[in-house]
Amino acid sequence: MADTEQQSGSGTALTTWHQQAFTAIGKWKWLTDLTDKATAVVDPLYDRFRANPALELAHGGRWVGHSLHPALSDLPIGFWAGSLVLDTLNKDAGGRGRFDASATLSAAGLATAAATAVTGVVDWSVSDGEDRKTGVFHGVLNSAAMVLHGASLAARVSGRRGTAKVLGAAGFAAVGAAGFVGGHLVQGRAVMVNRVATTGDGPNRWVQAIEEAELPDGAAAGVTVDGRQVALVRENGNVHAVDDLCSHAGALLSRGEVDGCLLTCPLHYSVFDVRDGQIVRGPAHHPQPVLPTRVRNGWIEVRGSLPQGRGRKKN
Ligand code: FES
Repeated sequence: MADTEQQSGSGTALTTWHQQAFTAIGKWKWLTDLTDKATAVVDPLYDRFRANPALELAHGGRWVGHSLHPALSDLPIGFWAGSLVLDTLNKDAGGRGRFDASATLSAAGLATAAATAVTGVVDWSVSDGEDRKTGVFHGVLNSAAMVLHGASLAARVSGRRGTAKVLGAAGFAAVGAAGFVGGHLVQGRAVMVNRVATTGDGPNRWVQAIEEAELPDGAAAGVTVDGRQVALVRENGNVHAVDDLCSHAGALLSRGEVDGCLLTCPLHYSVFDVRDGQIVRGPAHHPQPVLPTRVRNGWIEVRGSLPQGRGRKKN
């Protein structure tokens, strides 16, 4: 085949539409403007309350072990799906007067959507770049769903059942679209997933990482050993090693601040204890894998990870 010949590839409109859709969404100017405005309001607030455990709990944090937002989002989707099914089957029994079973499910969806929105905004505050814009679009769709379901509930209790059904169906379409966009953020863009889940266990032997003299006390250094990025920290003469990629969103921890055994991520300020990799403050919800270290012939050496939570040092 000639070098200049074009390869057509195997992508078709049926398999690439979602890639094209998110590319197009990223170019919407109104979305960029809205993202800038939301950032100007939310970021200072987040910074002010960053150290508050309630804020970390809204992420899920170290207590839950993963993000709360995707789990909570099942509730409004489930309640509104139930309301839609009852409407579709024309089953309005089980309630009192105009506040029938569909209305109850619709109201429960609204209440749980409000809690889900709070956790969503908190997670959005620690997203970056294009993901922020996609996150705002996700929020716009969810807000539309809440407005439509609110209007549906109002129509339902005022006796306009036909209007309520149409609004409820439209609201469910909006929340379904929002769920698709949210799925793209988590599964396509790895937002709020453990970024060190796939770093592996290597190296499976002691590897020279850095000369001992190059790592002063109270400092961190980033090294690559057998392809694995590792942050080294020397504290009180002891050398500790953790994966350099932050479990939250992949920033390089070796560029963060060292305070004794604590290493602060430079991007969203999660704090890890380098002795065992455990989280001292979120938004991270997964600890950093710890690697054993030792000093031999003036070199700091590193080898594969200990199981999480069993950090120890060997100098
Ligand atoms: S990348 Fe977000 S806290 Fe480290």
